Amino acid sequence: MEREIVLTGVSVDYGNRLALDNVSTRLDAHRIAVIGANGSGKSTFARLLNGLETPTSGSMTVHGLDPLRQVKQLRRRVGFVFTNPDAQIVMPTVAEDVAFSLRGRGLSKSEIADRVASVLAENGLGDHADAPAHSLSGGQKQLLAICSVLVSDPELLVADEPTTMLDAANTRRIADLFAALPQQIVLVTHNLRLAERCDVALLFDGGRLVEQGNPVDVIGRYEREFA
Ligand SMILES: Nc1ncnc2c1ncn2[C@@H]1O[C@H](COP(=O)(O)OP(=O)(O)O)[C@@H](O)[C@H]1O
Ligand SMILES: [Mg+2]
Repeated sequence: MEREIVLTGVSVDYGNRLALDNVSTRLDAHRIAVIGANGSGKSTFARLLNGLETPTSGSMTVHGLDPLRQVKQLRRRVGFVFTNPDAQIVMPTVAEDVAFSLRGRGLSKSEIADRVASVLAENGLGDHADAPAHSLSGGQKQLLAICSVLVSDPELLVADEPTTMLDAANTRRIADLFAALPQQIVLVTHNLRLAERCDVALLFDGGRLVEQGNPVDVIGRYEREFA
């Protein structure tokens, strides 16, 4: 499976400021951490990866796909998890919410039910399948959001500060889940312990990619220079 993310001189200009400034990188690691101060461009970088944002200049490919011309294919292969799980819930019950991700894929009702049941069971939500999604705890809601992404079997999972609203136990649970996933993951986080568990880390500052490398080294620089 090709799992390379390539950016060549990518900038994103919001008119009065560059959210990303001439970013070039080539990434094929399994787990990729993205760190940096507030406003440094992390979310903009993450949003480029499934076409939620597009480059103002420069070029990029994600697993061989061009986000400008192949956004539909890209969205099918790249799952996105947001910070706030409430914003991701679209259907009344837990099972319906997960099933919603499989719409339009030509699957039978029983195939959908099987896939939904197994992803919920694997992630500790099996007993909540028929519960109202909004009755779940914050940690369970984020697990639900991740289930809704994983059920469609993406090649790449992009998560933008997915544990920011969670307590330590739920953060740990999500971290362990991510650590066990076969998919490539791009994890934007302020939790430096989570970043440290990744294979490579990227440090953004003022829209520029200032360092890419071993997480321990990159985190060290962030703590010395930016924290
Ligand atoms: N939709 C937008 N319109 C205008 N400016 C934006 C928009 N989104 C982000 N920005 C600006 O771009 C910069 C980078 O933002 P962002 O990528 O969200 O950073 P981070 O996720 O690291 O906090 C910030 O200065 C932010 O204010
Ligand atoms: Mg952000």
